[in-house]
Amino acid sequence: MNVITLAGSPRSPSRSAALLTIAQRWLEGRGIKVTPWNVFNFNAEDLLYAHFDSPALNDFVRQLAGADGVIISTPIYKASFSGALKTLLDLLPERAFEHKVVLPLATGGSAGHMLALDYALKPVLNALKAQEILHGVFSEDSQITRYDGDPLLSAALEGRLLESLETFTRALERQSQFSPLHISSAL
Ligand SMILES: Cc1cc2nc3c(=O)[nH]c(=O)nc-3n(C[C@H](O)[C@H](O)[C@H](O)COP(=O)(O)O)c2cc1C
Repeated sequence: MNVITLAGSPRSPSRSAALLTIAQRWLEGRGIKVTPWNVFNFNAEDLLYAHFDSPALNDFVRQLAGADGVIISTPIYKASFSGALKTLLDLLPERAFEHKVVLPLATGGSAGHMLALDYALKPVLNALKAQEILHGVFSEDSQITRYDGDPLLSAALEGRLLESLETFTRALERQSQFSPLHISSAL
């Protein structure tokens, strides 16, 4: 199974990206191939000026087409997901998330905007035809103790994240039984 992670923070080091580092390690420990992507992988001008012929964008779209699942993590900015992430999502083909399980993650300064994944990001994932959008995981900054190369989460947050990853892998297994990607390669 192939999973893509997409980090949507324009800043580094990043709390929201730290959640993906942990998710990647956990999934790889279960034999799942993970390819990490970050908004930094794209030329800012390509995103701002909607250059659909951007090589990085085309690479990303190609890898996305072969993925079973996607985990997207974003900081909450102004009660929504980051604008940097939106500039990328805007350039994806209309059915970019078709046949994919998507797990959204977010970090924010306070719990006040914990529903932003539901009212802001999920409609966009839906517009990109995601097959199954799982319940997201929202974390307050205070629950992320360290967010360098070796992140450390509060026990409560780590528990919620690992539980959502279990759900994600179960959904991937279900999905892979019916995905055209796997059916055609089995024929
Ligand atoms: C420009 C900006 C806007 C922000 N707006 C919000 C907000 O509306 N609600 C919130 O809970 N946190 C807000 N925050 C805090 C960030 O969401 C939070 O610190 C997040 O964990 C940063 O993630 P990152 O380290 O991955 O960039 C904002 C931070 C910045 C820099």
